[in-house]
Amino acid sequence: MKQQPKRYLVTSALPYANGLKHIGHLAGAYIPADIYVRYLRAQKRDVVFVCGSDEHGTAIPIQAMKEGTTPQAIIDKYHAAMESDFADLQISFDIYHRTSDPLHHETSREFFTYLHERGELETKETEQYYDAASDTFLADRYIKGTCPHCKSDRAFGDQCETCGTALSPDELINPVSTISGNKPVKKKTTHWYLPLAKHESFLREWILDQHKDDWRASVLGQCKSWIDGGLQSRAVTRDLNWGIQVPLEDAKGKVLYVWFDAPIGYISATKQWAINSKKDWKPYWYEEDTQLVHFIGKDNIVFHCIIFPVMLKLHGNILPTNVPANEFLNLEGDKMSTSRNWKLEMRDYINDFVKKENGGEQCVDMLRYYLTQIAPESKDSEFTWKGFQDAVNSELVSIFGNYVNRTFVLMHKLCNGKVPTFHAALADEKDSQLAQDILDIKNKVEHSLENYKFRESLFDVIDLARKGNKYMQEKEPWILAKTIAENPANQQLIDNCMHHCLQLTANLAILINPFLPATSKKLCYMMKVVEKLLDWENAGSMKLLSVGYNLREPQLLFRKIEDEEIAFQIEKLKSGAMQENEKAEESKPAENQLKPEIVFDDFGKIDLKTGIILSAQKVPKADKLLQLEIDLGFEKRTILSGIAMYFQPEEIVGKQVVVVANLAPRMLRGVESNGMILMAEDKEGKLHFVQPENAIPAGSKVS
Ligand code: 2FM
Ligand code: ZN
Repeated sequence: MKQQPKRYLVTSALPYANGLKHIGHLAGAYIPADIYVRYLRAQKRDVVFVCGSDEHGTAIPIQAMKEGTTPQAIIDKYHAAMESDFADLQISFDIYHRTSDPLHHETSREFFTYLHERGELETKETEQYYDAASDTFLADRYIKGTCPHCKSDRAFGDQCETCGTALSPDELINPVSTISGNKPVKKKTTHWYLPLAKHESFLREWILDQHKDDWRASVLGQCKSWIDGGLQSRAVTRDLNWGIQVPLEDAKGKVLYVWFDAPIGYISATKQWAINSKKDWKPYWYEEDTQLVHFIGKDNIVFHCIIFPVMLKLHGNILPTNVPANEFLNLEGDKMSTSRNWKLEMRDYINDFVKKENGGEQCVDMLRYYLTQIAPESKDSEFTWKGFQDAVNSELVSIFGNYVNRTFVLMHKLCNGKVPTFHAALADEKDSQLAQDILDIKNKVEHSLENYKFRESLFDVIDLARKGNKYMQEKEPWILAKTIAENPANQQLIDNCMHHCLQLTANLAILINPFLPATSKKLCYMMKVVEKLLDWENAGSMKLLSVGYNLREPQLLFRKIEDEEIAFQIEKLKSGAMQENEKAEESKPAENQLKPEIVFDDFGKIDLKTGIILSAQKVPKADKLLQLEIDLGFEKRTILSGIAMYFQPEEIVGKQVVVVANLAPRMLRGVESNGMILMAEDKEGKLHFVQPENAIPAGSKVS
């Protein structure tokens, strides 16, 4: 049998402090970790749960540019906001740290120095994009261009925003600097690299052999394809002025790459936790009997399963026992996206539900419930408002809430508000089956939680409540109550039923606690017991509530979600996305904007003909105009065209052109212009003649 770890260190991905986080993040890395940790705490295991804000990387200065403020102001704002949102949703970190903290800078520099001094890093000189105007090397996110795959112009040096393909800056078509808008040039620079290829056999053995049975298939699959694809050396430094300075003399202006320092943030957070609680942090990172578990989203797999473990191994630390990465959560039929405003931010849910008059902790648990029920554990899943409503109304309210409520109401009505005696002599098959079900489900839940199967474990807890409803329905104590006058002994049967129903309620409080902590708290209040009852070891017992003990009146555990609330949220989502779309259209460069639609007849009114430039000359006192004589085949025309900045008169004589031939004459600088030449404008604003592909007679029709 596997030995139980002596201590646990559980981490949730450090969110970037560049904006508020949405429920996809919550479902992927925070709620499952919180369930796991609450379960371990209920098991009285030694566990530390760390997280914090990821405050480096280009995401921060880019957001500062967008908001017209400083990077420091950005991290301060979003660090505080994220910490408060997590607290509102009952994510119970032991510490929520931040990577701008001096303790983290020091820890990261020590880590780098340790690897560097032992020769574990390589240096390489490469050519990278550089923006001469702002005198900066351009990190991937600072370069924009056209995607080589889908041709969208919303592609960055690391990824195309439209089709999602991972890119390198060299692949972008027409790259431009997002700082100056100029075309960047290539310049030499030196960086430090982690030579992953040297560690291939270690990674193969550790991941693909040792963990082949206990890591999620999707995680193993990604790791295998990274390893099989050939591990490249990864730069661990960047030319950037925001981040942790590289601790070397010859590294001025260079900082640690954000993905080098961010996971070290788990270590510095543990150190800070240890300082705060006067504990020793070292065993959590150095002792083999520690179980280290990283909860992340699938986009972070390579960093947590390949790069960070290599760093940890070289630094003499323990390795993660498991990395239960989740797939993505879609929203109402589409991928969640901040840029398209197709998302539900944690903060929005908090404001619209938790902080509303009829909200509070029950709404926190309602969200935690639905997000666990649809957790994208093995494939992408989807949040829909209708699904949320159904989960709350038909499961939490109708099964769990209803069971507890009926139990309490009947106990007050039929047993004087006290826990009745259980008359063992009258016990039947159904009673012993219920007790057995409680025990079986406790074991099942325990097993699935230990194996990171949160959906399954929650399903089993609800199933237990379902069994409780069935038990009560079959025992029909309300019918028995009607027979008491003629058969007083039936009170004992009622007592047995209500005794069991109450013991089941206490068991449900324990089993649901990791998932819905506020609900368990409320149940403890109703049962007038201290929260010590929620210790996991108590689950399975049918003696949790003492006979004769007086219990409180029932309270509402969950409220129904109304149709109007759902309709409001769907409308809000759609209109938010529409506004964002309109904004994006407005900010598109002119060449991407379309004029209002026309019908075919509108176009049919324009007479386009080919022509040949016979002569060209400058127009006195008009910098932009050239006066052209055009042969239209059937006649010669004088046309003034605003192309003088781009062409010398002599170079365009003899060129074929396309002319709007039926344009009303206009007087320009005292000369009558009879038509217009069609020109195309490129991104730099330079003009080019629109021409037939081959020479054709002047006066040919263009349509
Ligand atoms: O993807 C992200 O949001 C990263 N900030 C996660 C970092 S996890 C860890 F390494 F800190
Ligand atoms: Zn693309």
